[in-house]
Amino acid sequence: MGEDEVQKLIVRGGNRLEGRVRISGAKNAALAILPAVLMASEKVSLYNVPDIIDVRTMLRIVEDLGMTIRRRGRNSLDFYPSGLRGFSPPYSLVQQIRASSYLMGSLLGRFGKAAVPVPGGCDLGPRPIDQHLKGFTALGADCRIEHGLINLTAGKLIGAHIYLDVVSVGATVNLMLAAVLAEGRTVLENVAKEPEIVDLANMLNALGAVVKGAGTDVIKIDGVKKLGGAEHMIIPDRIEAGTYMLAAAAAGGAVTVGEVIPKHLEAVTAKLREMGVEIEVEPEQITVSRNGPLIPSDLKTFPYPGFPTDLQPLGMVLLTAAPGTSVITENVFENRFRHVDELEKMGAQIKVEGRAAVIDGGLPLSGAPVAATDLRAGAALLVAGLIAEGETVLGEVDHIYRGYENIAEKLNSLGAQIKPQQLRGSSKATGDPG
Ligand code: EPZ
Repeated sequence: MGEDEVQKLIVRGGNRLEGRVRISGAKNAALAILPAVLMASEKVSLYNVPDIIDVRTMLRIVEDLGMTIRRRGRNSLDFYPSGLRGFSPPYSLVQQIRASSYLMGSLLGRFGKAAVPVPGGCDLGPRPIDQHLKGFTALGADCRIEHGLINLTAGKLIGAHIYLDVVSVGATVNLMLAAVLAEGRTVLENVAKEPEIVDLANMLNALGAVVKGAGTDVIKIDGVKKLGGAEHMIIPDRIEAGTYMLAAAAAGGAVTVGEVIPKHLEAVTAKLREMGVEIEVEPEQITVSRNGPLIPSDLKTFPYPGFPTDLQPLGMVLLTAAPGTSVITENVFENRFRHVDELEKMGAQIKVEGRAAVIDGGLPLSGAPVAATDLRAGAALLVAGLIAEGETVLGEVDHIYRGYENIAEKLNSLGAQIKPQQLRGSSKATGDPG
């Protein structure tokens, strides 16, 4: 049964997880790099591209704009940009993923204009783009929002000194894309330092751009006339890896995740050690083992290199298994506790106060019918099903397949008992462009 037909996952809890799981390419690197491919003038080959719904949607957008794509394998693709025409991606596809906002920067950078639908809101709270638009304006673009479209035009983009008011991954990506073909130097300050930003910078430089400082607070870009072609291997997905590490800690057992870049997971490794979990770090893999009781801990999310907000829902499930009181503080998004209602249906004792969630852990969860509200909440509920007593029926699983390649198969290969169920005539999951 193809993932796109699966509507529910039936999970039987109580199994430990043992073995090794292969980590796919990073979703949030691929979703930033694919818009960058639109700026190339020669063939681009990408390797280790995760085969997930959001990437497939972005590929359809890029193809709709005139790019020729040759799939060389499940995770390897060649792009031929000679047929590129439009600067206005299709509304129906753009609305499905928030990362389509990156098309603003790449199309504006390439064509001097872009007409991109306003990215939808989602279940993590408001997802403003004020910092993106502030940066485009600073580079000389005229930004207008008309009839649900963001219309950007610029006779010529001129390098500028831009200070972001908020550390934003999306704004950092978008402004890098808009600046690489601008005239002169652009300095971006107070930028995001995520590994996916560094991966994008490496890809842009491989195309012939001049981007320095990615991974630090200041990125300097010297505009060039044209970008050529390149080959690029996408970095491993640290959020996928962290998901399996936290799942292993929650279920008990011993799981190795590879290949990974351990440095990208230092905040997760440190937190797990604090909770009494054994971690063995090797150059390209990490092994998580847990046999004894978990120690309650406080968890605060921050932009990289802090504990990633995307793993906060998974951290919450883990903390429900630690006997005692733990506090999670979500410092990145305003409303990223929607998974709490679903976890409470499984017997979790959690009290939300604004940006803090107080977890009274130690009592086992019990299996129940629950539904994914967004991508990472869905993964968290799946892991909750692994540790709950009895059976959990997880709905709206489309959310999960947006960001995780073969998650049920990978967990079952570690000893989980997850059965996909297809529902006849059911509606597709909507919302949360993520
Ligand atoms: C990216 O979203 C990721 N998505 C998210 O991953 C991730 O959670 C987030 O970065 C934080 O790491 C992709 O890379 C496709 P932000 P993004 O701009 O760029 C505020 C997942 O599950 N803000 O860094 O949308 C914003 O409201 C997804 O893979 C402004 O105020 O996040 C938020 O509170 C979920 N104005 C904070 O910044 C702006 O113009 C961080 O948002 C932009 C953002």
